[in-house]
Amino acid sequence: MYVVAGVTGKVGSAAAAALLERGKKLRVLVRDEARGRRWAERGAEVAVGSLDDWEFLTGALRGASGALLMVPSPDHIDLKDVCRCQMAMVDALAAGIAAARVKNVVFISSIGGQLPDGNGPARSHHYAESRIAESGAVTTFVRAAYFMENWLFSLQPVLQNGLLPSYLDESRAIPMVSAVDVGETAVDALLDPPRATRVIELSGPREYRPSDVALELGRVLGRPVQLVTVPPSGAAGALAAAGYQPQVAGLFAELYAGLNSGRIGWQGGAAHALRGQVHLEQVLAAVTRPLA
Ligand SMILES: NC(=O)c1ccc[n+]([C@@H]2O[C@H](COP(=O)([O-])OP(=O)(O)OC[C@H]3O[C@@H](n4cnc5c(N)ncnc54)[C@H](OP(=O)(O)O)[C@@H]3O)[C@@H](O)[C@H]2O)c1
Repeated sequence: MYVVAGVTGKVGSAAAAALLERGKKLRVLVRDEARGRRWAERGAEVAVGSLDDWEFLTGALRGASGALLMVPSPDHIDLKDVCRCQMAMVDALAAGIAAARVKNVVFISSIGGQLPDGNGPARSHHYAESRIAESGAVTTFVRAAYFMENWLFSLQPVLQNGLLPSYLDESRAIPMVSAVDVGETAVDALLDPPRATRVIELSGPREYRPSDVALELGRVLGRPVQLVTVPPSGAAGALAAAGYQPQVAGLFAELYAGLNSGRIGWQGGAAHALRGQVHLEQVLAAVTRPLA
């Protein structure tokens, strides 16, 4: 039986569906029982609790052949200390893994997870990589590139006035990956675990520039889409205006600045580089087709 967290989200749902398609027994972790119902209808066990509760995790992970875990972004935008909250979740995950004696773990980390700081939201992934490595499980850390699906958060201005805002350098191609490929890669690692803890650095079939995204969105929607590049510091202002605490706004500004400068990139070396199959065109087409 395999345990999957985050099944109401993009990576977790892709992974859970892939496990069921491969005929595996599944236990999903949800915060809200009602949101687990569709998985129960597909034959999964449902465990209800939070990823920051180590006692819940210990029970939910017990007996698992493998577990797919992550540290989701906190959903309280007014949370003052996000980093502390995410580190507490990592501590709970590590304690749960150790107490339940799970031997096979896949953890969703991110590009820049090798860096202790200057990497925006990946700071919690860096902490997770060290804490979970000490938990006694052989772990595959899947450092995922910038999700292609992130662009869909900007759909509203695109549909309203044909403008695609971006904090990324328009001429710089960066690694991007679909959350579907992240889920599939996680499942491959769960079903064929390594002998020792390892890192996979996962990007999509190729790198993309923000201008490629604008071009492709325009093609899918059948109307011109103009890229509007805003300096990374603008991300801090926009998030602060939307009610996010300065720490979160600062982390995202740091992420964009790091991707633009190349400071946030792949580690290489012993980390295993892998490419997914899903193209940006597929991600954008799937969601925008009914809107066009
Ligand atoms: N976006 C990127 O570019 C990127 C890049 C690299 C790595 N990542 C990592 O990829 C991971 C997966 O991302 P995603 O896009 O699939 O996430 P997502 O779609 O935002 O889904 C998050 C999931 O986590 C669940 N969740 C949140 N807080 C929880 C808690 N306290 N206890 C239990 N479940 C909780 C949510 O459940 P509810 O339904 O209850 O809200 C939801 O199922 C994240 O951890 C992120 O750090 C993202």
